Amino acid sequence: VMRTAKKMGVKSVAVYSEADRNSMHVAMADEAFCIGPAPSQQSYLAMEKIIQVARVSAAQAVHPGYGFLSENTEFAELCKQEGIIFIGPPSSAIRDMGIKSTSKAIMSAAGVPVVEGYHGEDQSDECLKDHAKRIGYPVMIKAVRGGGGKGMRIAHSEKEFLDQLESARREAKKSFNDDAMLIEKFVDNPRHVEVQVFGDQHGNAVHLFERDCSVQRRHQKIIEEAPGPGINSEVRKRLGEAAVKAAKAVNYVGAGTVEFIMDSRHNFYFMEMNTRLQVEHPVTEMITGTDLVEWQLRVAAGEKLPLMQEEILLRGHAFEARIYAEDPNNNFMPGAGPLLHLSTPPPDSFTRIETGVRQGDEVSVHYDPMIAKLVVWAEDRQAALRKLRYSLHRYNIVGLSTNIDFLLSLSGHPQFEAGNVHTNFIPQHHDELFPTKKATPPEVMCQAALGLILKEKMQTDAFRDQSDDKFSPFASSTGRRINICYTRKLSLLDGENGKLAFVLIKAFNFQIQDKTFLISGEIVNEDDTVYLRSSVNGTVCKSRLVILDNTIYLFFPEGSAQVGLPVPKYLSAVSSVGMQSGAVAPMTGTVEKVFVKAGDKVQIGDPLMVMIAMKMEHTIRAPKAGVIKKVNFQEGAQANRHAPLVEFVDEEAESK
Ligand SMILES: *[C@@H]1O[C@H](CO)[C@@H](O)[C@H](O)[C@H]1NC(C)=O
Repeated sequence: VMRTAKKMGVKSVAVYSEADRNSMHVAMADEAFCIGPAPSQQSYLAMEKIIQVARVSAAQAVHPGYGFLSENTEFAELCKQEGIIFIGPPSSAIRDMGIKSTSKAIMSAAGVPVVEGYHGEDQSDECLKDHAKRIGYPVMIKAVRGGGGKGMRIAHSEKEFLDQLESARREAKKSFNDDAMLIEKFVDNPRHVEVQVFGDQHGNAVHLFERDCSVQRRHQKIIEEAPGPGINSEVRKRLGEAAVKAAKAVNYVGAGTVEFIMDSRHNFYFMEMNTRLQVEHPVTEMITGTDLVEWQLRVAAGEKLPLMQEEILLRGHAFEARIYAEDPNNNFMPGAGPLLHLSTPPPDSFTRIETGVRQGDEVSVHYDPMIAKLVVWAEDRQAALRKLRYSLHRYNIVGLSTNIDFLLSLSGHPQFEAGNVHTNFIPQHHDELFPTKKATPPEVMCQAALGLILKEKMQTDAFRDQSDDKFSPFASSTGRRINICYTRKLSLLDGENGKLAFVLIKAFNFQIQDKTFLISGEIVNEDDTVYLRSSVNGTVCKSRLVILDNTIYLFFPEGSAQVGLPVPKYLSAVSSVGMQSGAVAPMTGTVEKVFVKAGDKVQIGDPLMVMIAMKMEHTIRAPKAGVIKKVNFQEGAQANRHAPLVEFVDEEAESK
């Protein structure tokens, strides 16, 4: 948003919470104001504080971004009262479309098909349950004011219904301060297809084609693309027309998205309308050659839409991959931590990197764990997909778990390549997307050993050069080949299975287990990046090399490898305490609800606590049956990752 504002000669003012003091958006803005502590209720959701900043800085307009207050009627009205332009639709349109029951009624009236559901006023458990039964399980329980997968649960049977309902309500209360729910038929293997629409204050409305955002985890999007794969021009035309009809029905102004659920025969049904610019809008910009933020600013200033429908042309294909701090192998558990090393593919006009963080920044527990959006464009889908994978393997991060390797396997899956996407894609292809962990190949372990030795050599050389008054910084070295003329035994930890491996080095022979490899190589610096170029028994390989905190990272075209240097036993023993004796916090977060107390008897799998981290709820379940000895955290307390939450009575002591 700020980049476009700059381009248009518009000054920007940022607001930030104490947690974001040093963040990139603060540095980019012409002016910046702190509006409170990290919790969003006290900062980014505090309307009065934001209005106050607008007043003090004499801002003419407020761009609400993609989350927080972007679909908040009260905030849009507050701006209006203050004479500040809210860059978004009129508050009436936000209200009508934000309440899903109303939006569906409007769409039904306009003749667009909608999915079976209950959108009523009566919110009693009994009533909601009756309607779930009428619609038929499985059903989707959704926050009426919801969005972005927050406050959304699936109940597969009547037995699960009340638990899921309560969980959805709690999350909705937290995210939107409103826990009204609607129930919808859950359609199997559906596609999520959405249409970008735009309206102006002169009664014009256009669409900018569809996006497919079917591939999701935890009901949140991971890879989006435009146009939708396999959608023919006739369906595309009908989608666009239905979306424009929706926009016109509520006198829509500004950027909006009309979401449809599409079945395998390309029948589509209206789901909801998002009354804001969406995270995935860049793919639409790429295929239409537009800047939608610029459109937003022009429309907000009262101008007409820059293009009429027949002037909007679709060209090529675009993908967006969302890079998250999370652990795909641990149910996509959101993560937090420092970005110790960050290198990205070189951006060009067909490769965009949309990010709010830089190397050295921290992904905090307070907000969404998204690190970046990687957006690519090419003439056709196949070429764009190739470009996506090429760029993903140049996106290298050290310091926290990311989903980059997962994005590589997802985008390389034959069914994804074929365009056979649907919202159940990840569970359906789970086994191929999450192959059982194998040990790191010995060739790769040897490359890690080589990388370590060469790095050590560079450092010694640098010291020697320094003492000779000929200090040569690493960046200027053009390549160092090593004469490994010594014998050395290196112990390494395989990052895949945690096992210890030994590499015996004698001249150019690297021995691991019972295998011997003839290895040579060098470290090269290209574009400020350190690469390891190696030859392993004649096979030449180039990978990006990062060594940090006792760990060697190698980034290959098809994925990455992590190899650790063993930490002495007396140090590592400390961190494993408490892992076995009870339930531990899967990540840093706040304890929301505690279900047990000392003396309680629990069965394996019983819920013990609910934690909130990264704006998501995590239920902590009993790892075994037993009696609770102690609850270490009360409601509202903050628990660090791996902190023991609940202790069990020692079974042996118990039986005595
Ligand atoms: C690599 O080459 C060496 C020398 O030719 C040979 O002794 C060794 O067996 C080879 N290693 C493997 C795993 O093929």
